[in-house]
Amino acid sequence: MLAKKPPMGWNSWNTFGENINEQLILEITDILIEKGYKEAGYEYVVIDDCWALRERDKNGRLVPNPEKFPHGMKYIADYIHGKGLKFGMYSCAGVLTCAGYPSSYDHEYTDATTFAEWNVDYLKYDFCNFPKSGNCINAYLTMSLALRSCGRDILFAACNWGVQEPWQWMRSVGAHIYRSTGDIFDNYNSVKDIMLSQEKNFSMSAPGCFNDIDMLIVGMYGKGLVGVKDGCTDDEYKTHFVLWCLFGAPLMMGGDIRSVNDYSEKLMLNKELIRINQDEECRPPVILNSYNDDTNDNTTRKYFKILSDNEYILAFINYDDNPKDISAYFAEMGIPYSSEMGLEMTDIFTGEKLGMVRDFIRKTVPAHDCIVFKGALIHA
Ligand code: GLA
Repeated sequence: MLAKKPPMGWNSWNTFGENINEQLILEITDILIEKGYKEAGYEYVVIDDCWALRERDKNGRLVPNPEKFPHGMKYIADYIHGKGLKFGMYSCAGVLTCAGYPSSYDHEYTDATTFAEWNVDYLKYDFCNFPKSGNCINAYLTMSLALRSCGRDILFAACNWGVQEPWQWMRSVGAHIYRSTGDIFDNYNSVKDIMLSQEKNFSMSAPGCFNDIDMLIVGMYGKGLVGVKDGCTDDEYKTHFVLWCLFGAPLMMGGDIRSVNDYSEKLMLNKELIRINQDEECRPPVILNSYNDDTNDNTTRKYFKILSDNEYILAFINYDDNPKDISAYFAEMGIPYSSEMGLEMTDIFTGEKLGMVRDFIRKTVPAHDCIVFKGALIHA
């Protein structure tokens, strides 16, 4: 079974756009090993849009642009596989990709065969230029079956930006992950809007098929080639990464990991956070008090996540532009005072041990920042 856990890796789009080539992909592959990303779980190296020639060949096959990829795609696959990693590519359900290259509408089985021949392990499948007469669900079902019958295990990363509520049907059509939102940009509001638009849709995100809220912008600091390039602060990247980990979203890095700064590198390699993302039970967090006034205004959140082995995560997120006091009663977390139980809590970032905490906790959280506690449930 593919995608037992949220997939992890790197994708070329956010930082490099059309500016991709063989040397870049090989260098990224090497960095994944050298900097410890592979060891931390990052596995897929994904080439996004703009890798192909503008025309198919005379047999109707997609052709890699020889100026960008002089040795072809199988060469890259072999290199990536030689390092113990996996290789991802990109196509689209429409008649042209988003950047205007040939796309897989009505070529699904041919293209799946081509990707299998190139030893591809992952296919991101976009939704631009989709014919008005077409049927979106059927298009993803068709590519899913083309991949399932191509003779190779290829993870199907469906990317339809939330059209027709994909959380309702992507698991049925066989996708392993599905993009449920428009594109993320290197900007705090983009992270916040994407997260808040999806936080209630994660109930269907589970082994075999995960909700994908787009690539990580961690560490880009405004250096990407596509979209809004405001950049974020370290705290904002931290909150972004924490949210993706809490919700079990795929962790596909979008930055230039060859030159990312220390703060962001450590963040993306944070073993505690990755463990939360990869927990085998893959449960989305409870949104505490989500029907109370104080959390309906989208300024703060308290997320409570059950991990396997009697471990629990309590995260205070301050989405607001000002510092906020955030508090939680343990009864909200299913631990009333009368139970004589409490959480033995540790702050994941500072390492501070709070000891056994019961009944109530309050913290001041700086703007756009978060506090994350882990804890075991024990007798008082
Ligand atoms: C769409 C996708 C992006 C990226 C581009 C490539 O916008 O949502 O993630 O793949 O296309 O053109």
